[in-house]
Amino acid sequence: MRILVLGSGGREHALVWKLRQSAHAPEIFCAPGNAGIAYEATCLSADLKNIDELLQLAHKIEPDLTVVGPELPLTLGVVDEFERRGLRIFGPSQKAAHLEASKAYAKEFMQRFQIPTAHYAICRNGAEVQQALSLFSGRIVIKADGLAAGKGVVIANSKEEASHVAAQMLNRRLVGDAGALVVLEEFLEGEELSFLVLSDGNTVLPLVPSRDHKRVGDGDTGPNTGGMGAYSDDRLLDSTMREWLMNHVAHPVVDGMKSEGVPYKGVLYIGLMMTARGPMVLEFNCRFGDPETQAVLFRMESDLVEVCDAVAQGGMHADLLRWSAQPSICVVIASGGYPGAFTSGQEISGLDAAEAVPGVKVFHAGTAHSGEKIVTSGGRVLGVTASGADLSAAAARAYEAVEKIRFEGMQYRSDIAKTAVSSRQ
Ligand code: AMP
Ligand code: GLY
Repeated sequence: MRILVLGSGGREHALVWKLRQSAHAPEIFCAPGNAGIAYEATCLSADLKNIDELLQLAHKIEPDLTVVGPELPLTLGVVDEFERRGLRIFGPSQKAAHLEASKAYAKEFMQRFQIPTAHYAICRNGAEVQQALSLFSGRIVIKADGLAAGKGVVIANSKEEASHVAAQMLNRRLVGDAGALVVLEEFLEGEELSFLVLSDGNTVLPLVPSRDHKRVGDGDTGPNTGGMGAYSDDRLLDSTMREWLMNHVAHPVVDGMKSEGVPYKGVLYIGLMMTARGPMVLEFNCRFGDPETQAVLFRMESDLVEVCDAVAQGGMHADLLRWSAQPSICVVIASGGYPGAFTSGQEISGLDAAEAVPGVKVFHAGTAHSGEKIVTSGGRVLGVTASGADLSAAAARAYEAVEKIRFEGMQYRSDIAKTAVSSRQ
């Protein structure tokens, strides 16, 4: 069996690592991959924006299954094009991926199907922004409609600031064409939760819950990032709340999409704010989260090849997913300066010593080979992942491993899962 994984981040390394454990002993290819993935799969260069190139790659490799990591090829229609040629592929169609690609579409979809979300207004120009602002009080969230690589959400403290940010988005200065439409949203207070579900278009099954840490600095300070660490623990979500989310969010999305002629197949990432008024959807992503996936797959006991196959070709069933009860944690090590400008090419040391810590796996993200050395090549560089008898044991192992890794300018948060650990002692 041959499997092609598309992507190059920590999420894709975790997918490759888990797919390799399959009883089907698959031969794995990854495009483009990274230095860590290269130890576990054959890496091939590819431009994920170029669907023709991906089709040519598939023609050469003849994969039995393709698994797509990032949103970009999904929103460009990679699934539609592969399926048109009879290739089995894990991920939603271009139309279904609209749930992530357009925040305005996602908000209107939620309104049509009474899915709980923040009050909002969609604005096309300054006049509409002014009119909408009169309906809001307190802090206001301004979101660019399109994909903006984590830079499309700004929280404003006043109407003046909101109006300024919205104008900057609408005149394309802040996030380019992604800001052609903006969504204004009421600010929600609470704890965030990443609730990921799998769907084959009909059946929906939840993955174990996880929590991301989006801000760059300890104590949730500094700018937003792609995610500086995550953990997965069953105590994030009790069974009553899980059922509530399945019945009020996950099923309505999948059933709603089906009723509108756009069946949703793949993983649906539901980003939630757990507010005093109940859970509210912040966003949908049409792909696995990064770094949530590193923590979630660490707990998966099922055969990921069988899981992805069942999603891609239909036929998911309730006993498809089995999980370890042990919590897991992923601590991201990033380049100095991230999420702003950073330098690449720094030599990384201590990787073997880090992986020698029991229960630890180091997933690579922005890494590359330079001769015999492994060097940094991106903002988020590594995801040091560990499990343990409880969250505090998992965190202790992950941080023991983190401390063995060195590169010039490296930064990481020292408080991943910390509030959860201290509140449970
Ligand atoms: P999004 O891409 O929509 O998930 O937004 C990115 C981040 O902005 C979220 O993970 C939250 O931390 C924050 N955020 C988004 N929408 C809201 C909201 N309505 N209220 C408070 N925070 C928000
Ligand atoms: N960790 C957040 C995301 O994958 O979008």
